[in-house]
Amino acid sequence: MAGIVVIGTQWGDEGKGKYIDILSSNTDYVVRFSGGNNAGHTIVHDGVKYALHLLPSGILRKNITCIVANGVVIDPAVLLMELDRLESQKVERAALYISDRAHVIMPWHIVLDGLQESKRGKDGLGTTKRGIGPAYSDKTERCGIRMGDLMDAEAFKEKVYANIEIKNAIIEKVYGGEPLDPEKIIADYLGYAERLKPYVRDVNSLIHVALEQGKTVLFEGAQATFLDLDFGTYPYVTSSNPIAGGVCTGAGVGPKMITEVLGVMKAYTSRVGAGPFVTEQINEIGDTIRELGHEYGTTTGRPRRCGWLDAVMLKYAARVNGLTGFCMNHLDTIGKLDSIKLCVNYKLDGKIIDYYPANLKELERVEPVYEEFESWKGVDISKVRSFDDLPEAAKRYVRRIEEITGVKMKYIGVGPEREQTIVM
Ligand code: GDP
Ligand code: IMO
Ligand code: MG
Repeated sequence: MAGIVVIGTQWGDEGKGKYIDILSSNTDYVVRFSGGNNAGHTIVHDGVKYALHLLPSGILRKNITCIVANGVVIDPAVLLMELDRLESQKVERAALYISDRAHVIMPWHIVLDGLQESKRGKDGLGTTKRGIGPAYSDKTERCGIRMGDLMDAEAFKEKVYANIEIKNAIIEKVYGGEPLDPEKIIADYLGYAERLKPYVRDVNSLIHVALEQGKTVLFEGAQATFLDLDFGTYPYVTSSNPIAGGVCTGAGVGPKMITEVLGVMKAYTSRVGAGPFVTEQINEIGDTIRELGHEYGTTTGRPRRCGWLDAVMLKYAARVNGLTGFCMNHLDTIGKLDSIKLCVNYKLDGKIIDYYPANLKELERVEPVYEEFESWKGVDISKVRSFDDLPEAAKRYVRRIEEITGVKMKYIGVGPEREQTIVM
């Protein structure tokens, strides 16, 4: 039995999709357990780029099974669009199953996400406006609609009518928006239901039978530790639990079934949307990292905020997730700078602190303590496949990250392609 969890250790876009794709060559199942189409996971294979939002990143492997589990919120139109796109690209894809317990993103969720963001004005969270927050709110408020409901036309209609009056009242009276037409929603969604029916079922039994049979199940994280609703930089977070613990509730497996927790990280830090970012470089360095790393959002196309690697964040991520290893990306990118800085400590009001502040006012006052590293500018490492063949400066940088965090590097990415990976 192997239950391997792959999660993000920073603010997302660490390159989780690439590692899931790589690791799924030795996997039987890939399970998405949280988030929705706020995620954008890029896989580059033979120069062809695939951007996945809802489909698990194992979908490009034809001999495995992919599962979208209960913890995910699903926009059925997006799911169908992704399936159609793979078909038009003639991809021989993995089998797919979708949990009947997963919540459905409804049009009012998307409308409300946009209206709430506009209302917050300059204090906006910078959400992806995909309806994620409102869908999870309805889940906890217990008025959500699940995939199982969508498969039952009568139950679905009832639930749309049970919701629409209050949703339209909020849209119109609180935010001054346009009300939604329930008949149109029902017609559209029942159309999606027809096409999605073959995929929707109980998936928890599938996962457990697989684990009992000694198969390898990979749990694919979306978002990341610092976007976690409880452990991230609240309120500048997403509305789910993307940390390793989210697998237990988001896919229905016990902690003892998790045998490995891999934390994906970049050799620097990036963030999309608003919120604190201690090592952010709003200067030429940040701009250079953005251009060298092509740091533009996979989902929204927004330029990503960029800065130095923050080992304080990584240490916290190691604890919160119980990391057993790191998968690093973009070692090629960071080596193109003139020199490299690594944040090794936080100083608050002149004193080094040993925790990650929850209080955003404290976090604003934090001063990063940096160590500086020489770079390996001019040496192309994109074809290196063994750690020993890396320039000494690159090895020193990697070893120092391991030393500070107490977590070993398992894989190092030196380019976006599947093959551009060093296995430690
Ligand atoms: P995810 O959301 O965590 O799956 O990450 P994204 O796909 O949103 O962003 C990661 C970006 O980095 C994508 O454009 C990848 O193709 C790219 N990428 C991943 N690993 C590497 C690497 O090692 N080097 C370089 N240069 N690019 C990488
Ligand atoms: P992947 O899986 C980066 C960010 C948004 C915003 C905040 C809340 O590709 O790493 P939401 O729409 O979730 O309510 O937005 O979270 N965010 C991400 N940033 N990568 C992601 O996913 C993200 N998913 C959400 O930019 O700041
Ligand atoms: Mg992404």
